[in-house]
Amino acid sequence: MSYIVPFIPDNAPFSPAQRAWLNGFLAGLYSGSEPATANVPALSLKIAVLFATQSGTSERLAKKLAKELKLRGHVPDLASLDSYSPASLAEQTHALILASTYGEGDPPDGAKSFAESIAMDSAPRLDSLRFAVFALGDTSYEHFCKFGADLDARLSALGGTRICERMDSGVDVDAPFDRWKTTVSDSLTEAPANSPSAAPLPHLEEISSSRPHVHTRDNPYLAKVIEKRPLTHEISSKLTVHVSISLAESEVHYEAGDACGVFAQNDPALVEEILAVTQFPPDATVEIPKVGATTLLEALTHHVQPSRLTRKMVQAYAALGDCGKLEHLLAPDAQTQLDAYMYDRGLIDLLEECPGLLTSPAQLLDILPKLTTRLYSISSSPAFHAGELHTTVAVVRYRSHNRDRGGVCSTMLSDRIPVGGRVPIYIQPNKKFRLPLDNTAPIIMIGPGTGVAPFRSFLHERRAIGATGRNWLFFGERSATTDFLYRDELEAMRGDGHLTRLDTAFSRDQDHKVYVQDRMIEFGAEFWRWLNEGASMYVCGDASRMAKDVDAALHRLVETHGGKNSEAAKEFVQELQEQNRYHRDVY
Ligand SMILES: Cc1cc2nc3c(=O)[nH]c(=O)nc-3n(C[C@H](O)[C@H](O)[C@H](O)COP(=O)(O)OP(=O)(O)OC[C@H]3O[C@@H](n4cnc5c(N)ncnc54)[C@H](O)[C@@H]3O)c2cc1C
Ligand SMILES: NC(=O)c1ccc[n+]([C@@H]2O[C@H](COP(=O)([O-])OP(=O)(O)OC[C@H]3O[C@@H](n4cnc5c(N)ncnc54)[C@H](OP(=O)(O)O)[C@@H]3O)[C@@H](O)[C@H]2O)c1
Ligand SMILES: Cc1cc2nc3c(=O)[nH]c(=O)nc-3n(C[C@H](O)[C@H](O)[C@H](O)COP(=O)(O)O)c2cc1C
Repeated sequence: MSYIVPFIPDNAPFSPAQRAWLNGFLAGLYSGSEPATANVPALSLKIAVLFATQSGTSERLAKKLAKELKLRGHVPDLASLDSYSPASLAEQTHALILASTYGEGDPPDGAKSFAESIAMDSAPRLDSLRFAVFALGDTSYEHFCKFGADLDARLSALGGTRICERMDSGVDVDAPFDRWKTTVSDSLTEAPANSPSAAPLPHLEEISSSRPHVHTRDNPYLAKVIEKRPLTHEISSKLTVHVSISLAESEVHYEAGDACGVFAQNDPALVEEILAVTQFPPDATVEIPKVGATTLLEALTHHVQPSRLTRKMVQAYAALGDCGKLEHLLAPDAQTQLDAYMYDRGLIDLLEECPGLLTSPAQLLDILPKLTTRLYSISSSPAFHAGELHTTVAVVRYRSHNRDRGGVCSTMLSDRIPVGGRVPIYIQPNKKFRLPLDNTAPIIMIGPGTGVAPFRSFLHERRAIGATGRNWLFFGERSATTDFLYRDELEAMRGDGHLTRLDTAFSRDQDHKVYVQDRMIEFGAEFWRWLNEGASMYVCGDASRMAKDVDAALHRLVETHGGKNSEAAKEFVQELQEQNRYHRDVY
C-alpha cells in the first residue's frame, strides 16, 4: 500500500530547517507502513477507558488508546466520565483514565458530577481496581493538571491500586501520552500473582496507526488569508478583527462550534531587540527538540515564547548568576510579589533587570518556554460559508514598564499577516459545543465580546440547514457605537425573525456597568420559560469572571422563576448539563 506523501512548499511560511523537519516528518508518517497486526495476548483484560474532556483532546486520546488495546486483544470499554458513576467504576478491575483540568483546577464541566460523587464520604471502595491516570493540562496555569492529580489521589485513597504513576502533560500531549502508554502497556502485562502468566507483548505504539488525520496540530494546513476587517470602530478603546481564511483547496473540515488552532510567530521587533541586548548572532546554530538544528533567529521567531514570564523562567534565569531582586521575588513567601512582577513583563525585562547573565544562545533558549498554538472559536458556518473559515480576534495590546507590548498571535493576525498571506492552522474539534440535534429546539446564546464568534456560526448554520428552532442571543461589549461586533448581520437576523431575540449589554454606555448576566436576570421569566420549553443554553467568552457570573445568574433566575431553593436550583442546572443543554466554551 502506498500513500501520496504531502510536502511543505518552498513558499510556505516556515524556515528552511522547519520545512526540512516537516517534510521529513510527513515522509515518515506517510511512508506506507500499515499498523502491525497485533498478537492476541495471553492475558486479555476488560479495561474501562474513561475520559473527562472539555475540548476533545482527552476523548481523542482515549479513543486511540481503546483502539490500540483492542488490537492487542484486550476488551476496552470506552466511556465519558460525564455519564459515569463511582459505582460503575467500583465494578471494574482495570481503568485507564484521561482527564483534563479547567478553571481553577476544576474538572471539565461534564465531569463535575462524577468529581463531586467520588469525593463524597459515601463513595464506594475501589479495592478491586487497578488504574492509571493521564492528566491533561497546561503548565502556564497555576493549578497544573489538578483535576487529574486529585482524581489519581482519590482513587488510591478509595483502595485502588495504581498500574503506574500518574503522567501529567502540558499542551503538547502526544509525546507524554506515548510514554504513558508504554508504561501502562509494560505494567498491564505484569500479571498479578494469581493470573495466568502473560507472554511479552509489543508496546502499544508499535501497533499504533502511523497515518495522521489529514490536517491536525502535527500536520497543519497553510491557509490563505482572504479577508481582514475591523469589527470595532476606529475610535474604540479596543480592536477586534474579523479574519477569514480559505479552505477551498483543502481537506480541512469543521463543524459549527469548533475552534481553529493557529501557529503563531513572535513579533520580529521583539526578536531583534532580544538579539541586540544579548549580542548573540542571529545565525548562531542552535538545537530545538524535535526540530533539530536551526538558527537562533528562527528559534526565537517560531519556537519559543519570550513575551511572557513564568516562575520557572524567572527561576532558571536567576540561577544563572547573581540577581538579588529576582532571588528576593523567588522566596517562598513572595509569590504575590512575583505574580505582580510577572503579570506585565517578559524576557526583555529580565535581561534589563539583571544584564549579562546569559553566556550562550543555548542558555537563552533553555530558559524560554515553548511557543504554543492559539485557539480561536470559528465564527463562520460550514454550511453557509462553504470553503471558508472565519475568526473573530480581539487584539491584545497594552503598555507596561515603558514599553508597548502585544499578544503574539492576535497581533500577528491583525498586523503582520496580510490578505493573501498564509498561516498554519488546524481544527480543534469541540464536540461539547454543538447545536441541538433537534432543529426545532430553541437555543439561548450568551456571548459577550469575542464570545459571539461561535454564535455567528450557529446562527448562519441554523439558517442554512433550515433549522426552525427559536434563537436568542445575549451580546455584550463596551459601547454600542464602537464595539457592536457584527451589528449589521445580527440586526438583519433580528429584523427578519431568524434571531428571535437579541438582548445587548453595553457596559460602558452608562455610568454603571451593565453586563449580559444583568439582562438574563432582567428577562428571567422569559429565560425560564425558554428553558422549560426545551431550550439549550450556550456560553462563550471570558472564563475568569463572565462565565462564573453568568452561571451564578442562571442559578439565581432558576431560583426566582422556578420557585426553587438553592439546592434544587443547583440540581436543575446539573440536569441541564446532563441533558446536554448547558454548554460552555470559555477561555
Ligand atoms: C477555546 C478557546 C477559544 C478562543 N477563542 C477566541 C476567539 O474567538 N477570539 C479571541 O480573540 N480569542 C480567543 N481565544 C483566546 C486566544 O486563544 C488567545 O489566547 C488570545 O488571542 C491571546 O493570544 P495572543 O497570542 O495574542 O496573546 P499572548 O501572547 O498569549 O498574550 C496574552 C497575555 O498577555 C498578557 N496581557 C494581556 N493583556 C494585558 C494587559 N492589559 N496587561 C498586562 N498583561 C496583559 C496576559 O498575560 C495574557 O495572558 C480563545 C481561547 C481558547 C482557549
Ligand atoms: N487584556 C486585553 O487587552 C484583552 C484583549 C483581548 C482579549 N482579552 C481576553 O480575551 C477574552 C475575551 O475578550 P473580549 O475582547 O472578547 O471581551 P471581554 O474583555 O470579555 O469584554 C466583553 C464585554 O464583557 C464585559 N465584561 C467584563 N466583565 C464581565 C463580567 N464579569 N461578566 C459579564 N461581562 C463582563 C466587558 O465590560 P467591561 O470591559 O466594560 O468591564 C465588555 O463589555 C477575555 O478573557 C479577555 O480577558 C483580553
Ligand atoms: C479556559 C481554559 C482553562 C484551563 N485551565 C487549566 C488549568 O487550570 N490547569 C491546567 O493544567 N490546564 C488548564 N487548561 C488546559 C487544558 O486542560 C488543556 O488544554 C487540555 O489539553 C485540554 O484537554 P481537553 O481537550 O480534553 O479538555 C485550561 C484550558 C482552557 C482553554
